[in-house]
Amino acid sequence: MFAQLSVFALLAIQACTVSAFPAYQSLAGLSRDELDSIVPTLRFTPPPPPPGPLANDSSKLVHDAAHPYEPLKDGDQRGPCPALNTLASHGYLPRNGIVTPVQLVNAVQEGFNLENSFARFLVYSTFLVNGNPITNLMSIGAATPLTGPNPPAPATVAGLNTHNNCEGDTSMTRADAYFGDNHSFNETRFQTLVKFSNMFGNGKYNYTVAARLREFLVQDSIANNPQFTLVSPRLFTAFAESVFPINFFIDGRDKSGQLDLDVARSFFQNMTFPPNFHRRDGAVSNVGQDVVTDYFNFTPGYNAKGVNTFVVDPTSATLDQPCVRYTNFVNGLIKSLYPNPTGVLREALNINLQYLYEATVAAGDGCTQVFPYGH
Ligand code: HEM
Repeated sequence: MFAQLSVFALLAIQACTVSAFPAYQSLAGLSRDELDSIVPTLRFTPPPPPPGPLANDSSKLVHDAAHPYEPLKDGDQRGPCPALNTLASHGYLPRNGIVTPVQLVNAVQEGFNLENSFARFLVYSTFLVNGNPITNLMSIGAATPLTGPNPPAPATVAGLNTHNNCEGDTSMTRADAYFGDNHSFNETRFQTLVKFSNMFGNGKYNYTVAARLREFLVQDSIANNPQFTLVSPRLFTAFAESVFPINFFIDGRDKSGQLDLDVARSFFQNMTFPPNFHRRDGAVSNVGQDVVTDYFNFTPGYNAKGVNTFVVDPTSATLDQPCVRYTNFVNGLIKSLYPNPTGVLREALNINLQYLYEATVAAGDGCTQVFPYGH
């Protein structure tokens, strides 16, 4: 799907340009003229399209002999997403946490049974912001040279840990970026999830608990984080992620809809499938989110002047406006990261934007396609 620079091409670039920039150094220091002459010469294989839905989406053992948990090695990347961390620790994704979009879609389908169009939108939107479109690689954690030479600033290409519209405030088990660490498991926040599960779920995490906890997390950030913001597209992931643990972390043979808290910790903190874990039966995405939004009707916005100064952001898509989300994401965020791409960078962006749009079509959103860099 994305731009794939061949190993040979990478080596060739490094060999030819070693005096200009050493292996994997960002291209960001180069002048516009230098970039214009170098970027179009990068040999580049157009990234393949994303995989379709699973042929068989029934429940099955995924913590199997072919996918054992292995502890992290030095340099392996893990980040804010408990599901991707787990998939990497079991080898459904490369264990070093450096991944391609196709690997991501395959892994979330195979390991968790995430529905195809939802997986594709999530993957391509995240990749366009945090991945390297030239090398087709993204870190599921911090920025690393392993994703290859970066395109020039203002593009960030810094992995999922980057605080932007993918990683955002009000996570269940990670602190807001304002407080310093937005990606590591945070026991204090997990204990709030435990407390709410005890208060509203009889010791389990379920949709009722998800609704109460989401309301609390938003109110808590408004009251304590002077830089709190919750607008599209992070708005969409925040509400979906509230129900993801129920939809995907409960063993597929258990139809209770009640997530055991030791199982939750296994994913959120330990990045491992529980023993004998079976994925859910049948692909889904954010089923149950209506329970959360029926209880907690949130209008996107941010703290304008410090804590407790919440204002509505009328420019943000709301949860029932997927096409505003898509259009603003492409014409706003992506255009701001890549104001004027040329050569293979432009080509790579256009291919990834095409795959993103096709995900909205597959989801049945009926959006009009936008072309920030022409056809
Ligand atoms: C079935 C598949 C997936 C599941 C079950 C899942 C689950 C979750 C959950 C529960 C969180 C919230 C963590 C918290 O609030 O403490 C989260 C966060 C996150 N996930 Fe995933 N995820 C999945 C797929 C993906 C994919 C495909 C991507 C992108 C490639 C992704 C990127 C992220 C990011 C960037 C965050 C951090 C957002 C934040 O809380 O600030 N996830 N995920």
